Amino acid sequence: MASSCNVSRRPSYSSSTLVVYSVSLVFLLMISVNKAAAATNIDASNATAKVCADTKNPPLCIEILNNDQRTASGADVLLIATVTTNLSQINATDTQNYITTLLKSVTAPSAQIIHLKTCSLSFEIVVPNLNLIANILQSGGDYKRAHQLATDAMSHVADCENGFSSPPAIQSPLTDRNNNLGSLVDIVISATNLLSPFT
Ligand SMILES: *[C@@H]1O[C@H](CO)[C@@H](O)[C@H](O)[C@H]1NC(C)=O
Ligand SMILES: *[C@@H]1O[C@H](CO)[C@@H](O)[C@H](O)[C@H]1NC(C)=O
Ligand SMILES: *[C@@H]1O[C@H](CO)[C@@H](O)[C@H](O)[C@H]1NC(C)=O
Repeated sequence: MASSCNVSRRPSYSSSTLVVYSVSLVFLLMISVNKAAAATNIDASNATAKVCADTKNPPLCIEILNNDQRTASGADVLLIATVTTNLSQINATDTQNYITTLLKSVTAPSAQIIHLKTCSLSFEIVVPNLNLIANILQSGGDYKRAHQLATDAMSHVADCENGFSSPPAIQSPLTDRNNNLGSLVDIVISATNLLSPFT
């Protein structure tokens, strides 16, 4: 009786151990599936968070990307680079035209003319750089080169803006425009940097 009791107990003990092991295994599996899902979310689905994290003003970057139909409902890094390059081109061309208009103004103070001429030269580099970046992104070309061109464009926007603080120093009429363009190019810089390993 006692031995039959033992015999009947043993299998019941080991089957409950099996249940404990199985349950633990299921939990381990669930944890690793969750981790994989989270990693995919950060690496692929949420390129916006990843690109913007590397910019000077992440909330502004997120706002810019959410404000554009093409990137609002999620985009990969290449699309983010393409769209922000497009916005930068439009922005830079508009500022270039504005500089031309100001330079034609007969009432412009000579100090302003001096600095606007510097800006005109800066934008003669900024706009073609952005056009080249657009071509590279469209053709799946050298992303590292695109990144360099974006960094170079950014430094020429800064040259234009900083020019107004050197003698004869005057208030820049382009501060808001240069800041807006800088925020856009900053996103291009971050996105092309993330694309660079795929060159
Ligand atoms: C991605 O991240 C951004 C910025 O943190 C957030 O606004 C957006 O809702 C996220 N999108 C998804 C699909 O998780
Ligand atoms: C920007 O993108 C729009 C929409 O795709 C396009 O019509 C426009 O030509 C682009 N602008 C430039 C400067 O590439
Ligand atoms: C330039 O970019 C800023 C910031 O994204 C935007 O508010 C502004 O409307 C743009 N201007 C043009 C002419 O595209």
